[in-house]
Amino acid sequence: MRPFDGRRVLLVVSGGIAAYKSAFLCRRLLEAGASADVILTESAERFIGAVTFEGITGRPVHRNLWDTPMAHLELGKAADAIVVAPATANLISEMAAGGAKDLATATLLAASCPVVVCPAMNTRMWEHPATQRNVARLVEFGHTVVGPDSGPLAEGETGPGRLSEPEAIMAAMGRVIEPNARFGGLKIVATAGPTRAPLDPIRFLSNRSSGRMGYALAAAAWRRGGEVTLISGPGSTPRPIGPRLVEVETAREMLEALETELSDAHILLMAAAVGDFETDPQTSKIKKDGASGLELALRNGPDLLGETRELRRQRGIFTLGFALETENALDHGREKLARKGMQLIAVNMANEAEAGLEVETNRISLIDETGAVEEFSLAHKTELADRLLDRIESSIGT
Ligand code: CTP
Repeated sequence: MRPFDGRRVLLVVSGGIAAYKSAFLCRRLLEAGASADVILTESAERFIGAVTFEGITGRPVHRNLWDTPMAHLELGKAADAIVVAPATANLISEMAAGGAKDLATATLLAASCPVVVCPAMNTRMWEHPATQRNVARLVEFGHTVVGPDSGPLAEGETGPGRLSEPEAIMAAMGRVIEPNARFGGLKIVATAGPTRAPLDPIRFLSNRSSGRMGYALAAAAWRRGGEVTLISGPGSTPRPIGPRLVEVETAREMLEALETELSDAHILLMAAAVGDFETDPQTSKIKKDGASGLELALRNGPDLLGETRELRRQRGIFTLGFALETENALDHGREKLARKGMQLIAVNMANEAEAGLEVETNRISLIDETGAVEEFSLAHKTELADRLLDRIESSIGT
């Protein structure tokens, strides 16, 4: 299932140079499963043609208050969410003032669904107190404001004013449109990826974790309305947009970040593949010494769940952990759940080709505190993340 399947989005395009980028956004919405209606303001049509959007959506574009009776009431009513991209300084000012002079503003005034506003304009226009006041007003109305991004602008200046990338806008849309938004008011901490144990300034010990499972959990928890902090080890997998990101390298750094973040958390999603061993790194590069090779003396590093067990118990933090096993998976899983003080543990087998580290899919057995096991069939990690969060929601009774 795609994230926007069956959802209806109204895209309002106003007249700025970034208007061409809204065609990409429109395409992404359709690819994600949404159906999209488009309103072009009069000045948007100077930058991009209706035919472009009609080609993408297969529907007529709405341009004029007078073309279809009651379109300004019907379009907003039919939509699950409205996205205004780009939102020019002028449109933002009209919205803040409650204007209804054209189809875009009248529709926005009449709509009761969530609205995502994506400003794009020259930096000086963005930074003007009038625009800042207008944007603050939109936030007061309950609208979600995405961007603008900072960077080179079309007119040759550099600064905040660029339309946010479609991925960032899609992530925000996913959050406002989520039918399952039951994590509102909850702080969720997710850990993901590997940790590194440095040996010298150049080398380290690590593992094959890609971070995907933890990123998928953090993204899904954020989409469900949670205040999410993602503590991630190093790696090249793209980080999810939305959760607050804390990047760490070693297990000790992850422990420190975890202790800070857990102080006001409700749920911990512990998907990181924390390295178990560490050593005091050499300050200069370890040199080859004749033919005898190198023997490494390693000691156990911190057990993050073990170290935070008491804190989590005191604060009643619901904890989901993971275990990757090669044999007796369920027995090891039950033992770890009890020893490390988790409420749920997702166990998977390291020797299954389509499950575990480095791959996009996983197959897990979920064990709860009574020892009962629920089997989750092979699925994409993003889908599994949703199933795991459904299970957490029913356990904590949100
Ligand atoms: N974990 C942790 N600290 C560690 C290692 C693991 O908090 N130093 C967490 C993992 O994030 C996971 C759970 O503990 O949620 C189980 O991880 P696993 O590596 O299976 O546990 P270990 O105690 O390291 O067991 P093993 O001896 O099998 O490596």
